[in-house]
Amino acid sequence: MRAVRFHEFGDPQVLTVEDAPEPHAGPGEVRVRVRAVSVNPVDLKIRAGYMAQVIPTTFPAVIGYDATGVVDEVGAGVTDVSPGDQVFGLAAQGTTAEYAVLNAWASVPRPWTVEQAAAAGLASSTAVESLNALGDLSGKTLLIEGAAGGVGSAAVQIAVARGVTVIGTASEANHDFLRSLGAIPITYGPGLAERVAEVAPDGVDAAFDTAGSGSLADLVAIVGSSSRVVSIADFGAAALGVTLVAGNAHAADNLADAARLGSAGTFTPVVQAAYPLEKAADAHAHVQGGHTRGKVLITL
Ligand SMILES: NC(=O)c1ccc[n+]([C@@H]2O[C@H](COP(=O)([O-])OP(=O)(O)OC[C@H]3O[C@@H](n4cnc5c(N)ncnc54)[C@H](OP(=O)(O)O)[C@@H]3O)[C@@H](O)[C@H]2O)c1
Repeated sequence: MRAVRFHEFGDPQVLTVEDAPEPHAGPGEVRVRVRAVSVNPVDLKIRAGYMAQVIPTTFPAVIGYDATGVVDEVGAGVTDVSPGDQVFGLAAQGTTAEYAVLNAWASVPRPWTVEQAAAAGLASSTAVESLNALGDLSGKTLLIEGAAGGVGSAAVQIAVARGVTVIGTASEANHDFLRSLGAIPITYGPGLAERVAEVAPDGVDAAFDTAGSGSLADLVAIVGSSSRVVSIADFGAAALGVTLVAGNAHAADNLADAARLGSAGTFTPVVQAAYPLEKAADAHAHVQGGHTRGKVLITL
């Protein structure tokens, strides 16, 4: 099968399209004929070698963490899907190929395109996991630091669907985008507390840091308690008493939640760009720029 592989850690150019052996579904897994995958920042970190201690890589390795496609093999014990079903979900690694094995999935809701389903993998699981970690926020106000990216744009929509008032940070260029998702936009950076106070004079009840940009102590001060702040990207979180959320925990339940909102029309994953398999390095370079709006995809 064709796959995007790398033989050494390095910049996006280490990614090449090659022939690779097909994987097969083991117990509790499904194999899909892949239609599209999303590029997640973790892929960039794995490719660059930054995750080598945590996520071991055996070369040559296929890059990619999530995918959407048509089920073509069902492992022992799997009863919720059959060959021919369209699913989106997560893998242990190695999805950017004609076939990939998923270990958590949900059926693609009818309103979503293939591209939207691809955009909903790790990002939507992480958004749901993080919001769940903050408890019931219905009727409350949530500050999302980094609201325009893959996880942020999913979290804004899912929180709004849960009846939460969302204040989201982004650069000025993304403020109309955040408004279109139902959030109140403000800019990130120095002076954040003052800008939050302007739009939320009664304060905010919780904060979700997707950016990992060093603002976590400010978020704790703005909320007034570290127990109502979560981060997915700041490895100093524990020192501040903030939970560092793992987006792939409870993945099957999280994806099912995201799919339910997709069916209801209240969550539509955002796709900024899609690159063909041969341009995987360009897709990585795009995300590496740090200013993706929604998700960047690789399509087959
Ligand atoms: N713990 C986990 O399980 C888990 C799961 C998924 C992701 N992550 C991590 O979470 C982070 C975000 O992931 P993602 O997929 O959402 O990334 P992404 O889509 O690449 O994020 C890009 C967004 O970040 C915003 N941004 C850039 N600098 C910012 C700053 N200083 N303050 C606030 N926002 C800023 C950009 O907004 P502007 O363009 O408007 O500047 C852009 O919309 C990554 O580090 C990723 O590795 C962790």
